[in-house]
Amino acid sequence: MMRSSRVGSSTSKKMTSDGQDQGSEERNQQAEKIAENWRRVVERVHAAAERAGREPAEVAIVAVSKTHSAADALAVLKAGARDLGENYVQEMVEKREELEARGAPPVRWHFIGHLQRNKVKYLTPFCAMIHAVDSERLAVEIDRRASEQGRRQAVLVEVNVSGEASKFGVAPEAVTSLVEVLEGLEWVELRGLMTMAPYSEDSEASRPIYRRLRQLAEKLRASGAPSKVLSELSMGMTQDFEVAIEEGATLVRIGTAIFGPRT
Ligand SMILES: Cc1ncc(COP(=O)(O)O)c(C=O)c1O
Repeated sequence: MMRSSRVGSSTSKKMTSDGQDQGSEERNQQAEKIAENWRRVVERVHAAAERAGREPAEVAIVAVSKTHSAADALAVLKAGARDLGENYVQEMVEKREELEARGAPPVRWHFIGHLQRNKVKYLTPFCAMIHAVDSERLAVEIDRRASEQGRRQAVLVEVNVSGEASKFGVAPEAVTSLVEVLEGLEWVELRGLMTMAPYSEDSEASRPIYRRLRQLAEKLRASGAPSKVLSELSMGMTQDFEVAIEEGATLVRIGTAIFGPRT
């Protein structure tokens, strides 16, 4: 089942003064709010890139639509977003179908959550990027399913930079050996690294984590990893995406600042 929308899912038929039913007016307001939030996030991303002496086009914004309705996702696509991020396979597959049925613009789908091996087969037909590969067994399953599809699957290795026990991801010391495994897989295309910073009200607390991820990628590149790999750094969320961009993020994953709080 789809998770229900927070706002705008009212089916009330009460009429407003201009004759629209109240539900559709709420939906329009919600869509406008999302479009406005999107524009503000784009401006902030551009400003952060410029401050860091980077090209704004180097940073893609993944709008994290997890728990938000297809209507909300459509609103951000209409405002110009092209990358959507989801944490749950079923939700992603259902939202994709619903968006296609509504004639939505093309989407690059990013799977940003922890992925179980038995769900990989649902993603390999269409997923633009799997962000959180953290084991050889998962990588091998992605390779197997991608080869069945005849479609190479772009992935990132999730690194648990902070060392928090609650976080998924490989330890920084284990990244090199997982990267070596990935490079040997024909149907898996390693594009870079991903991390989550511990939650903090202070965005500066994330800076050492993001810097460490960039340094890890630089070290891997210097040690001879093929040049096409490891160019992507997926880091930064609503709370700290500007800091992440200053530290080299190429993919920021932003939910709350675009769609509002998750329920
Ligand atoms: C892996 C990951 N990245 C990014 C986000 C987006 O977080 P925020 O709403 O703080 O922008 C989420 C939200 O659940 C997430 O799980």
